[in-house]
Amino acid sequence: MQTITSVSEMQALSERLRMQGQRIGLVPTMGALHEGHLSLVKIASDIADVIVVSIFVNPTQFGPSEDFTKYPRPLEADLAACEAAGVDYVFAPEPGEIYPKGYSTFVVEEYIAKPLEGASRPSHFRGVTTVVAKLFNIVRPHFSVFGQKDAQQVAVIHKMVADLNFAVEIIIAPTLREADGLAMSSRNRYLTNTQRVEALVISRALRKATEMVAGGERRVDRLIAEATHLIGQHRRVRVIYVSIVDRLTMEAVKGEITPGKSLMAIAAWVDEVRLIDNEIL
Ligand code: PAJ
Repeated sequence: MQTITSVSEMQALSERLRMQGQRIGLVPTMGALHEGHLSLVKIASDIADVIVVSIFVNPTQFGPSEDFTKYPRPLEADLAACEAAGVDYVFAPEPGEIYPKGYSTFVVEEYIAKPLEGASRPSHFRGVTTVVAKLFNIVRPHFSVFGQKDAQQVAVIHKMVADLNFAVEIIIAPTLREADGLAMSSRNRYLTNTQRVEALVISRALRKATEMVAGGERRVDRLIAEATHLIGQHRRVRVIYVSIVDRLTMEAVKGEITPGKSLMAIAAWVDEVRLIDNEIL
């Protein structure tokens, strides 16, 4: 495995690999890798000749009061995990390599990115689409794998790829969970044991919604009321949103859900840790 930090070196390598007819798969990450990230690598390895994992804590997708500086950066452990997972190249640039002085171009998706995360983290997706567009131009992958854990992110990326004619296939990987249901996330390492137990109510609320749907419930108001009620019993957990949206457009579903097409998305604070999770209903 080789680690590359320069944009020009990564571009030259991709050019060479493409000339050799190699199929390049990219897994973009911000590091602090866990089994969820590695499940994306596993999916990529089934269809790629060459796997590139990018590790870059992208400053433009963090708001001014968010956790950019304290975001975990265990690079050595991440490189070891990539090596063990059979990754061929890690692209791990410094911020100045991606955003040199005077940088002024941004990619903005203006519809799907508006509700949910977009409403509570303005400019978050502007940072995500910008960095992913840049990564696609730098790594030139044939396909790229994203997690359903960040359902709105993957919907926004899909739209960006379609609207801007990127020749990159987007593959969606299912959400990997801890045995107790907590969706794996780099931010879980901020949680104390007590907070972690409290955080479980988020996945429990989602599971309750899927159970209700399996039992025949279709009404959006009833599903949201039950999930909100469950979370409301935990005083350390503050709901940012509990929404049921179309899984592709992120538009709020009115009245009744369409099984398989609707998604319940939850964002909540567990004390000062912001967590998101979702389930397709
Ligand atoms: P990051 O949070 O590091 O996540 C990288 C990828 O791993 C994303 O596609 C995310 O959806 C996926 N992922 C995270 N937790 C997962 C889980 N429990 N199961 C399955 N997949 C999971 O998302 C980002 O980084 C950034 O926004 C990025 C796309 C890299 C742009 O900076």
